[in-house]
Amino acid sequence: MYSSDFGKDFLWGVATAAAQIEGAANSYGKGPSIWDTFSKRPGKTKKGHNPSEACDFYHRYKEDIALVKTLGFNVFRFSIAWSRIFPLGNAVLNQEGVSFYHNVIDECLKRGVTPMITLYHWDLPEALSKEGGWTAFAINSAFNEYALFCAKEYGNKVKHWIVINEPFGFTSLGYMLGVHAPGQTGVSNFFDAALHTAIAQADGAKILRAEVKDAIIGTAFSCSEIIPYTQSGQDLLAAKRVDALMNRFFLEPVLGMGFPTAEWDVLEKFAVTHSTWRHQERMKFDFDFIGIQNYFPLVIKYNAFVPVVQAWEVKAKNRRVPHTVMGWEINADSFYRIIKQFAAYPEVKNIMITENGAAFHDKVIDGKIDDPERTEYFKAYLAAMLRAKNEGVNVTGYLAWTLMDNFEWAEGYQARFGIVHNDFKTQQRTIKQSGYWWQDFLSK
Ligand code: BGC
Repeated sequence: MYSSDFGKDFLWGVATAAAQIEGAANSYGKGPSIWDTFSKRPGKTKKGHNPSEACDFYHRYKEDIALVKTLGFNVFRFSIAWSRIFPLGNAVLNQEGVSFYHNVIDECLKRGVTPMITLYHWDLPEALSKEGGWTAFAINSAFNEYALFCAKEYGNKVKHWIVINEPFGFTSLGYMLGVHAPGQTGVSNFFDAALHTAIAQADGAKILRAEVKDAIIGTAFSCSEIIPYTQSGQDLLAAKRVDALMNRFFLEPVLGMGFPTAEWDVLEKFAVTHSTWRHQERMKFDFDFIGIQNYFPLVIKYNAFVPVVQAWEVKAKNRRVPHTVMGWEINADSFYRIIKQFAAYPEVKNIMITENGAAFHDKVIDGKIDDPERTEYFKAYLAAMLRAKNEGVNVTGYLAWTLMDNFEWAEGYQARFGIVHNDFKTQQRTIKQSGYWWQDFLSK
């Protein structure tokens, strides 16, 4: 299997995110983001790691983009740090930040790599968080102002856009479970944040459509195949609830179906209290592609003691199935099935895998960074994607997560997902064996 098996127009890229790679978090006029402040709170990230230096991409973007090219990828996905452009969230502009992204874009174009911008990858300006962040309705006008600025500023050079990275990911981890920034908890915060995010997702896309000529606009959903632990009625229903939340909750409003409230009284109540039907038109957008990001399937069991969802994950290690160092099950067939699940909506015309990858403990053997598990992982997942494509699913691109080891949110610098190794003391990049595998795969 080589990249040519996927057709000549297929997009191959690496995905990254500002807070995870840039560093220079407190310099060059950038305002603090919620990840800068959250990571400084005791116990919030492993070993108290924070994104202030990360991979120092801010100073090394030229070498890193050269590396993307050397490996043979034709797309570089990166996100804009909102607070580098608007340090206080809106109104006051930081010209130095604006110029930085021009430089990154120009470097991509110079090297013949297509830049793909994510507008929001989780690093909300702290100043906006103080005013309620995603739980406050005011976030929508602030986000629209930011989106409009980016579209006007970069739209003549950048055609590929992703509005929001994993709405379910950051609203659930950051506003319900409190394990990601801004560390808020509770179902009510989650539902408030979710509604405003669903609105922002479509608003942002409409702004891009209006401002950017020939734009190719997508948004990126996390997804996981949900497998009931047993065929008992209770497990089946628990799996259905989790599926509604993790796979359907943010997708269906985009498709004009509203939130998936029918099968679950909690969602029904949310829809009623937030009058979500009033926003149904606003949450809808005909995206050019639907980005899906898959890392693991979940096996779900009924559990009466878990509030709201009454469901519990049966972990991969307890089921003794292969998993990564994150504890995430490795299961390429499940990747195939979740692609099919998303493709089954007639409104979904084009799917791009906007993230997929794995963290392992890499070994240094004879000066080489040896990561055979990661290479095997990619081989299996790409074969699964090819199977779906050959069966008629319109998959048009694949972006590997990720270019280099980086700041893995609450896991700090310990979880390494890169196909390039980064030494965080020296910022030395070394291509891993999986990176060389990619280079070969992409060359034919
Ligand atoms: C996120 C990335 C993250 C990756 C691995 C995705 O959910 O978009 O930022 O690093 O998963 O955890």
